[in-house]
Amino acid sequence: MAIFLTGSTGYIGAHVAANLLSEHGASLNLLVRARDPHEAEERLWRGLQLHLDFPAFYEYLQTRVRIFRGDLTSERFGLSTDNYDRLVHTTDSVIHCAASLNRKSEKSCMNVNLRGTLEVLNLGMRVNHYHGLRRFSHVSTVAVAGQRQDEVVTEDNSIDWNRSDYDPYARTKKFCEHMIRQLLPEVPKTIFRPSIVLGDSRRAETTQFDMVRAFVFLAGLPVLPLRSKDRVDIVNVDFVADAIATLHVKEKTQFDTYHLSSGRESQTFRQLTESLAAAQDKRGPIYLPFLQRPFTSSVNALSNRKSAIGRGAALMKVFMPYLTFNTVFDNTRVTTELGRRPVPFSQYSYPLLKFSRETNFTYPYREWSAQAGGSAA
Ligand SMILES: NC(=O)c1ccc[n+]([C@@H]2O[C@H](COP(=O)([O-])OP(=O)(O)OC[C@H]3O[C@@H](n4cnc5c(N)ncnc54)[C@H](OP(=O)(O)O)[C@@H]3O)[C@@H](O)[C@H]2O)c1
Repeated sequence: MAIFLTGSTGYIGAHVAANLLSEHGASLNLLVRARDPHEAEERLWRGLQLHLDFPAFYEYLQTRVRIFRGDLTSERFGLSTDNYDRLVHTTDSVIHCAASLNRKSEKSCMNVNLRGTLEVLNLGMRVNHYHGLRRFSHVSTVAVAGQRQDEVVTEDNSIDWNRSDYDPYARTKKFCEHMIRQLLPEVPKTIFRPSIVLGDSRRAETTQFDMVRAFVFLAGLPVLPLRSKDRVDIVNVDFVADAIATLHVKEKTQFDTYHLSSGRESQTFRQLTESLAAAQDKRGPIYLPFLQRPFTSSVNALSNRKSAIGRGAALMKVFMPYLTFNTVFDNTRVTTELGRRPVPFSQYSYPLLKFSRETNFTYPYREWSAQAGGSAA
């Protein structure tokens, strides 16, 4: 029997897959988008090479990983009847990590997040019907808490249907949680809500650069239109993946919802920029919060340019609300249950910044080794 995992070619999903394989001896059924079996394996290798060398990856592929080539937005993932049946009969739990994070596209969030999650739920219900579903885990986001200001939000106080959401991403993720609770009332379930997932505390390398670009953009400014004492809830991806894998395989969890965040220990902008400045032997930025409005207008204007600055500005535009709301997400549940805490961002932010600048925001992927074989469904 295997864990069905979606999103394994993505940033967090690849960390979760690697953790489940290496630390928990798990077998995995993976949903991967690809035109043919070899492309599926290559795409998985791209995601997992941050964690595994090729022989280890290939060994897992042969022994404990089964790839199902499919898409969340197709009925039964677009799998043939035989393959779908095989998926149902070899799955005993689900981790749904895939999503559209395209905050600007109502359509993409609607299709991937809502219709896609409903497909995953349908699979979970079928598995439950035939032989029981051990656990359904869903990777949500703290963004379900909607528009906030100067708060410490606990898991039980997050969802407020009368509150406005920041964007289509947050809105659809909020409804995904609702669907799961409504449609799987009897099944053990865990909802994981990561905060801003940025970097791996164990290494400088990353394969995802969206938030990193926004961070590098801000880190390069001599004047920041922010309040220096505002806290920003950033969490390391290795903590997030470890929490998801460990709690998913646990027989019984203490809660059904967990913030995977830095919580009250989140650092302030001042703490973050001072540590970066010290690492580079430079002066820190000046904070002028009253410039927030003109800054936002400039970011909006620059975001239409097709240059590196334009791309940084476009990302800033999307992430700005998450940086200025001075809200953190209480993590007492997860840190108490795991006995581990996230690593403060200032401890690993400089290597991440340096790696990203040096590689011009691209990961130097290693090509699929020619001697590999294997097949995908
Ligand atoms: N990154 C963060 O800071 C953050 C914070 C809070 C919560 N989260 C949550 O964490 C989860 C993973 O995020 P991430 O940062 O790892 O995102 P990501 O790197 O963009 O990965 C998204 C994954 O979803 C898959 N996917 C998207 N559309 C699909 C479709 N139609 N059919 C099948 N698979 C599809 C992607 O497959 P392809 O490779 O084929 O595109 C990829 O594997 C999401 O649920 C997100 O809401 C992320």
